[in-house]
Amino acid sequence: MTQFKNVGVLTGGGDCPGLNAVIRSVARSCFNRGIRVWGVRNGFGGLVENDIGEMVDRDVSGILHRGGTILGTTNRDNPFNYAIPHDGGYIYKDMSPQALANLKSRGIEALVVIGGDGSLRIANEFTQLGLPVVAVPKTIDNDIPGTERTFGFDTAVACASEALDRLHTTAESHHRVMLLEVMGRYAGWIALHSGMAGGADVILLPEVPYKIEAVVAKIYARKAQNKLFSLVVVAEGAFPLGGEVTVARIVEGSAEKIRLGGVGEKLARQIEELTGLESRCTVLGHLQRGGSPTAYDRILATRYGVAAVDALLAGKAGTMVALQKNRIVTVPIKEIAGQPSNVPPDALHMGRAIGLCFGDEA
Ligand code: F6P
Repeated sequence: MTQFKNVGVLTGGGDCPGLNAVIRSVARSCFNRGIRVWGVRNGFGGLVENDIGEMVDRDVSGILHRGGTILGTTNRDNPFNYAIPHDGGYIYKDMSPQALANLKSRGIEALVVIGGDGSLRIANEFTQLGLPVVAVPKTIDNDIPGTERTFGFDTAVACASEALDRLHTTAESHHRVMLLEVMGRYAGWIALHSGMAGGADVILLPEVPYKIEAVVAKIYARKAQNKLFSLVVVAEGAFPLGGEVTVARIVEGSAEKIRLGGVGEKLARQIEELTGLESRCTVLGHLQRGGSPTAYDRILATRYGVAAVDALLAGKAGTMVALQKNRIVTVPIKEIAGQPSNVPPDALHMGRAIGLCFGDEA
């Protein structure tokens, strides 16, 4: 059993429902063991900038249900390749010694990092420098390997499913094709789960390059059954067979520069042109990331927070807490950092069995 007197906690990368629930859980697990807790503000940037403050119990009171993160976050700062303004531009410097010195000056001996794949990579580098770090898998995209669920995913799916219910009634009334573009980066988890829950007719995922002919054939087949409307869920990372993803913007200074988006509108125009049916696209965007976590995510986040502190005390530095077969386990970060976690082909079986179109058969 390793005993720590001071533990730091930070949230890195894009925000996600359930971050506050993890912070609360980590903090209370520590307080109950007599460990002092330090919140690092604005992700890894706060480590370098020395933006670190001690937390007390009232800081984590009333935050379980709140979206976002009370600590702030950013998906830009990497202490090992830190952007420093210089001559109207930036130079990049390894600021990890500064980050470690800032922790040491407060006696902080270990860190809980709540983040996605970018944060995992940074957490791994700190572990290699001798700082005990345990990570908690965060992202609405559910695209972190080694775990069956990231917290935040269930909330994003609930949001997208509700949007589909709303689109369903208007699609039916106007005999239109309604498309919903959802997030997920290069993984189709949100699209698959919300599409299944929301009764979509077509679900397009990055894992299955689509053929427009297959989508149109499904819409015609429904028309032939006198179903005059169709619901299409399209993941932002979906792309046509032999084609490319649609890029919405490039974010300079971000580790992951490419932001996806726009494929839904492109498809709506194509479908309207090919079928003559009025088609509309709704882009759900950051609505999926904001707001209160579902009960499932609050509980998962709380389990993860407790497990992260347990792991630190058990000397399991360099690991990520994970959900496997409904049990919380730890997996070595170095085995999973930078790996993708995509929807496997067998996850499509249920949809195919009930006649859903994934865009790959014409
Ligand atoms: O990883 C979470 C996520 O919301 C992705 O689904 C999406 O592609 C991306 O972040 C959007 O990032 P940003 O908020 O920086 O535009």
